[in-house]
Amino acid sequence: MPSPLKILSVVGARPNFMKIAPFAHAIERHNADDSQERDIEHVLLHTGQHYDAAMSQSFFESLSIPPPDVNLEIGSGSHAEQIGRTMVAFESYVRENRPDWIVVVGDVNATCACAMVAAKERIRLAHIEAGLRSFDLSMPEEINRIVTDRLSTLLLTPDALADENLRKEGADAARIRCVGNVMIDTLEANREAASALDTGDILSASRLAENAGDAPSLDNGFCLMTLHRPSNVDSQETLTSLVRCLIDDVAADLPLLWTIHPRTRERLEAFGLWAEICECPRIELLNPLGYREMLKLNMHAALMLTDSGGLQEECCVVGTPCLTLRFNTERPVTLSEHGGLCRLVGNDPERIRPAFEEMHGQDRRPHSLPHSDGHAAERVVQAIIEADGLPSPY
Ligand code: UD1
Repeated sequence: MPSPLKILSVVGARPNFMKIAPFAHAIERHNADDSQERDIEHVLLHTGQHYDAAMSQSFFESLSIPPPDVNLEIGSGSHAEQIGRTMVAFESYVRENRPDWIVVVGDVNATCACAMVAAKERIRLAHIEAGLRSFDLSMPEEINRIVTDRLSTLLLTPDALADENLRKEGADAARIRCVGNVMIDTLEANREAASALDTGDILSASRLAENAGDAPSLDNGFCLMTLHRPSNVDSQETLTSLVRCLIDDVAADLPLLWTIHPRTRERLEAFGLWAEICECPRIELLNPLGYREMLKLNMHAALMLTDSGGLQEECCVVGTPCLTLRFNTERPVTLSEHGGLCRLVGNDPERIRPAFEEMHGQDRRPHSLPHSDGHAAERVVQAIIEADGLPSPY
């Protein structure tokens, strides 16, 4: 029996957890399959970029991700602080425990920091969700994507548009493998359990104590919202005009369930907007939701408003019309011009208002994303095994 293939995979922040869960499970299935020639020794490392129970641990539990073997406890900080601290701690770990492969997912600071260490240590790097591009370098995530892809031995992409982006940047075709969307693996694995949850229970468990008065009635439908991008929440002018639009145009028409990200709450308080939102009887503020709870609310929402990347894709699959509160997206397959259910409306009320009026009466229309059959993670494992002989790009 050959020695096991040593894979070290990295997570850091909330959107990483739903991408690593199916990969960890696919490795477990690989090892349980006696017909496989070589076992995989999997070590899961958490950089600790997200550390609150609601942003991190709850996902490990609800998605049955094995507890991380290592936690670097990096925590918050500026981008340079987060990336710098992660690199120092990750380099030290990797020098002592040299894996055959380092696997990173998505586009957060942990992804980019660990990719740079892998390259400098000359360890093969595989990137799950490679090739996504918003073509907007003012987004920290776009910088993280470009750097990570440039340094990856194996580029594991969700669709043909991502392959095309990589080819245009000169990536060697032998390194690109279109495996499909691992996040949809997680959605499919949790769809039934999420369906069985009770909406009322979710709301009472996640309702913020600061909401004034009773929860609005949801009998005639509701909007669901998440908002956390620096481009939407860091400027007082932008956030104030968004809040006005939410209160006057959106919530006036349909009750709004708003799950509050820590960054957004900090800014709403700093800009003096928090009390007004808490007092708006048509807005219900919620703590960050667990994966299945969010999926359940998404399945029943009349409309999603979001600047998250992953939710755009999940809306398409469960059929929720979605106003994407961004001027661009790294996930063009979600847009109506590609058959998806999302429309880019930026953060300008003049664009949000008419799009909201037009879209909130639309029927739900579930839509399959390309190559997303719930088995992408199995193809990831297979691609890594097959690429073991691939020359490193360094
Ligand atoms: C990060 C990712 C973003 C992802 C988002 C999902 C980068 C560059 N950005 O942005 O791609 O969509 O996560 O949430 O990596 N905080 C807490 N508790 C936590 C985590 C953060 O209170 O568990 C606070 C921090 O103190 C900080 C703020 O939230 O003030 C932002 O956290 P940070 O990790 O810097 O970036 P996100 O905006 O969450």
